[in-house]
Amino acid sequence: MAGYTDPPYRDLLQEFKVPVLFTEMIDSHALIHRNEKTMKMLGKRDPDLFTQIAAGTPQLADHAMNILLEEETAGININMGCPAKKVTSCGGGSNLLRAPSVIKEICQVVRKKTSIPFSVKFRSGWNADLINYKEVGKIYEGEGVDFVMLHARTRAEAFSGHSNWDHIRDLKQNLKIPVIGNGDIVSYESAKAMFEHTGCDGVAIGRGAIGNPWLYLQADAALKGLPPLPEPAPEERLRVMVRHYELMLQYFDIRISSHLYRKNLVGYLRGLPGHKAVKEAIFADEAVTVERLKNTLGEYFETLKNFFSGEQTNAKYEINSAA
Ligand SMILES: Cc1cc2nc3c(=O)[nH]c(=O)nc-3n(C[C@H](O)[C@H](O)[C@H](O)COP(=O)(O)O)c2cc1C
Repeated sequence: MAGYTDPPYRDLLQEFKVPVLFTEMIDSHALIHRNEKTMKMLGKRDPDLFTQIAAGTPQLADHAMNILLEEETAGININMGCPAKKVTSCGGGSNLLRAPSVIKEICQVVRKKTSIPFSVKFRSGWNADLINYKEVGKIYEGEGVDFVMLHARTRAEAFSGHSNWDHIRDLKQNLKIPVIGNGDIVSYESAKAMFEHTGCDGVAIGRGAIGNPWLYLQADAALKGLPPLPEPAPEERLRVMVRHYELMLQYFDIRISSHLYRKNLVGYLRGLPGHKAVKEAIFADEAVTVERLKNTLGEYFETLKNFFSGEQTNAKYEINSAA
């Protein structure tokens, strides 16, 4: 996910032993020009990491592949689902669903170039009048795509409402290649429900992963038919939140790290009482040190522990409010 599954978060997820990771979507134009920021987004290649690119034409895909294949990568994923105007207006992302013949050519170019695993991420269709996941699914299968990931919403739906899991079930029944379901996985229960409803071969996690790397472990347990894992204890939350920030500091300077960490912190603290005050306390400084983060969060979780056990000690944070 652009802006979230950046190299530090991917490093963190590797520590969680997530078996397959994807880069954020990489713009092929920027890749071809070896744009500095883009090369940083790509991060270090490794055997568990798929690189995801957006390319609106076979020519562009061809050039981008030349750069990608200079180094070892676990596999390639082409984004045919992104709804953003800056992507669709160049022909890429979900716009390709309106041009199945171009989809076919892009797949041919990629498949001809490499035998490494090749997957495609796509949507149910462009809008309610063009729901064509079955048709394009057949194209992928026919052109040697190894597995597909279906985000079961149309482009017009963007990220709204609930995704239509019937589309995932339908696709799974129509293809022989593995189908990965995507849309609204936020818990062990939702992962289990998607497996049961669709028969899909795996699930891809989107927004649910923001501030919740444990969700991968829950989805894995659901896939294996195991019971749900206990929710992480405050100590584990603290450890992971600090580790995430330490990893950020390995890639970015302290001010950029502080800025980028904010949205992750919002995710980590979502639903917990008193989160507003703790965020204010942490970001009172524009350059947050690891010590500051650790101490502030440590105090906060200590207060929360007391709160959950019913002991209201000298709480520094106002945790009675839902703020
Ligand atoms: C901020 C944001 C950035 C995203 N970036 C990407 C991306 O780079 N590549 C991609 O395949 N999907 C991207 N997505 C889509 C998600 O991966 C996922 O398909 C979508 O959010 C549906 O899953 P969900 O309902 O579980 O969130 C992004 C979504 C959001 C909200």
